[in-house]
Formats: sequence, C-alpha cells, structure tokens
Amino acid sequence: MTVERLGVAGAGTMGAGIAQLACLGELETRLTDPDPAALAAGGERVRADLDRGAERGRWSEGDAEAAKDRLAIVPELDDLAGCELVIEAAPERLELKRELFATLAAACGPEAVLASNTSSLFVTAIAAASKRPGRVVGMHFFNPPALMPLVEVVAGDQTAPATLDLATTVAERMRRTPVRAADGIGFLANRGARPFSLEALRLLGERVATVDQIDRIVRIGGGYRMGPFELIDLIGVDVNLGVARSFHEQSFGEPRWRPHPLQQRLVAAGRLGRKAGRGFYEYGDGPHRADDPEPVASPGHSPEEEGDGGGRRAGEGDGEGTPTLIEGAGFRAHSLERGSLAALAPNDALAVGFLALPDLATATAVEINAGPATAYDALGAAGRHFAALGKHVECLPGDAPGMVLGRIVCQLVNEACFAVGEGVGSREDLDTALRLGFNHPRGPFEWGRAIGPERVLAVLDALAAELGQERYRAAPLLRRWAATDQSGS
Ligand SMILES: NC(=O)c1ccc[n+]([C@@H]2O[C@H](COP(=O)([O-])OP(=O)(O)OC[C@H]3O[C@@H](n4cnc5c(N)ncnc54)[C@H](O)[C@@H]3O)[C@@H](O)[C@H]2O)c1
Repeated sequence: MTVERLGVAGAGTMGAGIAQLACLGELETRLTDPDPAALAAGGERVRADLDRGAERGRWSEGDAEAAKDRLAIVPELDDLAGCELVIEAAPERLELKRELFATLAAACGPEAVLASNTSSLFVTAIAAASKRPGRVVGMHFFNPPALMPLVEVVAGDQTAPATLDLATTVAERMRRTPVRAADGIGFLANRGARPFSLEALRLLGERVATVDQIDRIVRIGGGYRMGPFELIDLIGVDVNLGVARSFHEQSFGEPRWRPHPLQQRLVAAGRLGRKAGRGFYEYGDGPHRADDPEPVASPGHSPEEEGDGGGRRAGEGDGEGTPTLIEGAGFRAHSLERGSLAALAPNDALAVGFLALPDLATATAVEINAGPATAYDALGAAGRHFAALGKHVECLPGDAPGMVLGRIVCQLVNEACFAVGEGVGSREDLDTALRLGFNHPRGPFEWGRAIGPERVLAVLDALAAELGQERYRAAPLLRRWAATDQSGS
C-alpha cells in the first residue's frame, strides 16, 4: 500500500508542522481540528512557514506554492475518509486519544493506517481502541517538526510489520530520519536522554559542582549546545518534573528515573524557568550567564604528559608543590579500588583528582578536585598544568566517581544499554535518536566506544559502591560489552 493522501488530526504546534512536512513531501494533505479557530490558525501557520522557508532559500518559491496547493483545511474527522494514513497530533490525554482513534477507525475504514504522535502514552493502549491494532503505529516527531529531522516509528504490541514499513516510508518521504522503537516508556530518544537532566540534578544535590559549572563542563567538555540546567529552564522546570514523574510512575518506581526533590522545590517556589523569568538561572534584561571562554588552541602534548594518569606527577619545577594527578575518580577502578579522590588518596596533600573525556589528548575541558588533605598549592599547580595544555579547567567543590561529565555520560551509556537489552531499539538507532532528536554531539554508544565500556562500567560500579544506590547498577549489556570489548580502550 502506498500513501498519496495523508490526514492530520489536530492543528496545533505539532499538527501544523507535520502537515507542512507532508505537503513538502508531495502528499495530498488534509488538516483538521475540532476547534475552528485552532484549525484556521494551524492552516495559516503551514502556509506562512512554507513562504518563510522559500524566503530563506530552504526550498524554491515554486515548491512552496505547490506545497500550499496540496493542503486542504477540513472541518470534520469524516473528511479524512480516503486518506491512506492519518497522523494524530491531539492533546496528550489517553482517553481523548482512544476516543479519537475509535472515531478515526470508523471514518477511515479498516485499511487506513492510523499513527499517533504521542510522546508519553503507550501506543498499544491507543491502538486497542481502534479495534484493528495491527494498523496503528506511533510516529513521534520532535518539536519543531520542520527543523528536527528525527521520527521515531513506534511499534505497538500488535502493530503489523507492513504498518511499520509504511510509516517508515512516509517519514522518509517527509525527508525525516526514521528510527524504529518498541512501545515503552519514553521510546528511544526521551528515555535515552533522561540521565542528562536527572544526573545533573543529583550532582547538584550532592554539591559535587554548581549549576554554572555543571552546565559549562557539559558545554565545553562534552560539546553539548546547552547545559542540563539551561535546558530544564527552557523546557520548564514544571514540565521537566512532570516528565520525570511520568517515567517513575509508569515504571512502578524505577530508581534511575526517580525525580529529584530540587525540581519540586523550584516548582513550589514558582521558579519555573525562562517562562517565569527565574529557574536555575535568573532571566532579566541581560544574558542569564557569562559567555563561555573561547576555545584555546591546544599546544599539544609531550608523550610524558599523556601517561595513563594514575599516580603520575605534573607541574615539575614550578616550585609550588608537585601534585600527584589521579585520573578521574572511578576510571581506574580496575587498578584502584574506590572511585572518589577522598577514597583513593585520603591523606595525600599533593593528590589532585582530574577527569578529561574521552581522553586527555582530545578533551577540551578538564575537571579537577581536591581530596580531604589536598594542599591549595597542589590544586593550583594542577590547574595551571592543564591550562598550559590548552584545556578549559573547572575546579569542583565536591568529589564523586566520574566527576561531572563522566557521571552524566556514563549514565547515558548505561540507560542506552538497558534500552537495547530490553529490545526497545538498536544501538545505531539510539545514537541517531539522541543526535537528531536532542542535538547530542555523540550518541551514547559513540560515547561508550570513545571512553571504553570498561571505564564506563568502572564509574558505575564506583558510584554504586560509594552511594549504595540501585540507580547506578550497570545494565547487563554494558557488563557483557565491557567483558568482551577488544578495542583496548
Ligand atoms: N509540543 C511538543 O514539543 C511535542 C513534541 C512531540 C510530540 N508531542 C505530542 O504531540 C501531540 C500534540 O501536541 P501539541 O504540542 O501539538 O499540542 P497543541 O495543544 O499545540 O495542539 C493540539 C491540538 O489538538 C486539537 N484537538 C483537541 N481535541 C482534539 C481531537 N479530539 N481531535 C483532533 N484534534 C484535537 C486542539 O484544538 C489543538 O489545536 C501530543 O500528543 C504531544 O504529546 C508534542
């Protein structure tokens, strides 16, 4: 079955964007919404965005006109009869969607494929209401659909393979990149991205680093466009808490997904993020944070500077105490028993912890910290040593296995390993989902390969040992990957 006529039910933010993509994909598109004002506004937005895209040279004026000619604004769901595929983008309420799917199934006939753009409901639960679940699928677009290339094609428990193929083909025709996901909490992308904000909140709650530091390390050291707290503020602290709650409740209390009390405290205080003028940052007239320092061209490394980090000396000859640099808390757990610097070097005045990801040669930022006995001079010498290598240096007030970037990234890898182990999707699709759905600079498996699965596992085991929390238990797939990895990293 091929698709030439596509219906979109719901003309809000997502529906209008999806309709625009369908028109550009040369599909006859019918857009409907029960609210006449929303329908008119949605139709207007599709046309205006098509014109704007032509002005900006994203497509030709001729293409925009042809796309507009393919758009029909229709007032009733019955007007979608004859569409081979209908994508639903109505409000995120299960009962509303179930009713809508029952009505759509009656209006469009048994052969039409019905797709839901739900981000957090089970496709299987929506599909059941249609009474022909084999022809129901999730097509999860990202906001704004016209700019975000990812579409998750989600299989409900009874979705037929031909239905998945059809949704995949249509996503490609809309010039999106489809990935396949099984039904489940958060599918691939939203699930895979959970640790980005949750682990940052835990680091803050444990006073390992400040809000500004965590965001800076993630931006400068990790290459992410935005730090986790800026992102939470942008999405809305209340919205972020709602997502966290939904994950936790739907999973019957998975410890990795437990919301953090800090989120609740901010919401209770009305610090809801950008929209409220205050969240983790203050949004006044000026910028909410200082610009990041310009990247420094790396002067390169001499071989002796590269070392494995474990117990080597640096800053020789600066006359200010020569620190023993102990690499990244947790990363050498196979040779050192415990993760944090306090556990590794409790009495050493010259011991300074550091972390550079994926390795010292390629890292743009280095995190350093002090143990309980570390002398101030040793910390200063370590900072100057890394600055001289062209690294951005952040001195953390706290101590934890994996420090900031290691802890966030290792939990991203761990979550991805759980998801793949549970059959939610493939490694490649998880990487694609996080790169294209959330602009991550690397997918979790790309991080895992760059750091080495054994080192990722070492951080998680050190966190589990030090914090005694089940959320740091390693995914079975990660343990097997670490045991069989031949890359030598
Ligand atoms: N906004 C996002 O960032 C985003 C991203 C991915 C997925 N989603 C999902 O997309 C869906 C729509 O979200 P949105 O942000 O576009 O919402 P929205 O509020 O902007 O638009 C929803 C539209 O649906 C209409 N509607 C209400 N009842 C309807 C019905 N019975 N049948 C058809 N239309 C109906 C409303 O009038 C409104 O115009 C939700 O399931 C949401 O979870 C949203």
